[in-house]
Amino acid sequence: MHIEKASPGCGAIVTGIDIRSISDSEFQLIYRAWLEAGVICIRGQELTIEDFLSYGRRFGEIFPHLVKKSRHPNHPELTVMGTNARNADGTVNRPVYTRGHGWHTDGPWDPKGCKATQLFGLEIPSRGGDTLFANMAMAYNSLPNTLKKRIQNLEADYVYGGVSRKSSELLEPEDRNLPPVRHPLIRTHSETGQKTLYFNPTHLLRIVGLSDQEAKDLFQELEQYQIAPGAEYRHKWEVGDLVTWDNRCTLHSATADYPIEERRVHWRCTIASDDAKGVLIS
Ligand code: SIN
Repeated sequence: MHIEKASPGCGAIVTGIDIRSISDSEFQLIYRAWLEAGVICIRGQELTIEDFLSYGRRFGEIFPHLVKKSRHPNHPELTVMGTNARNADGTVNRPVYTRGHGWHTDGPWDPKGCKATQLFGLEIPSRGGDTLFANMAMAYNSLPNTLKKRIQNLEADYVYGGVSRKSSELLEPEDRNLPPVRHPLIRTHSETGQKTLYFNPTHLLRIVGLSDQEAKDLFQELEQYQIAPGAEYRHKWEVGDLVTWDNRCTLHSATADYPIEERRVHWRCTIASDDAKGVLIS
């Protein structure tokens, strides 16, 4: 097994293993590299759905995503992403095509929390369709001390799609107005002890105790620090890539820029938080 950094600040690439037959000690090496890098890609895998889900369970409990229409009919914990990106008349089905576009962590709106997300590349377009990642411990470290102090006790409320409820077309009507879930703006990672900026523009509803204008001004200020110099990694997908990211300390964004006549299809599963779950606000 060979593990190398994908970029100076974020990501690691693993080659030379078949995750269907790794030992516990090999998994521990992968897990440690993952904690350090925030994102880990195991290249060249050939997996069945059960192989994919079993690997996810090594990271923690897996559970079904809120978007029901893309759940696999026989495996609700498995989301199939990217099918139906084109409507029958050839036009772009934008909610599907742009799913995951915009910097975010997964599931801040889910009271179960979302420790990690895992994607497996099944069909990859000839160009575009990358996923961007950023290290949020580096973002926290790049904040001026005065700003760190100002936000140290602030909390934010999250709903699927944020203020605009963008992408809520992907949800069933009964899931479109779920109560928000609250998280601190600064988190301490339960396994590495690092402080991270948990600032999640795509799903943000409000910052508790601030007026809409104050919150807007603060978002703009924080956005300047969201991607710290050297903290970004652009993942260029290959078929057989198995990528897991840590939602406690990274942001990600799909680039949503591949040719619409091509297909970009992934399996996805979500791993629940074993620590800081969000607090449901009723
Ligand atoms: C996601 O945001 O969960 C998916 C990212 C991607 O499709 O690249």
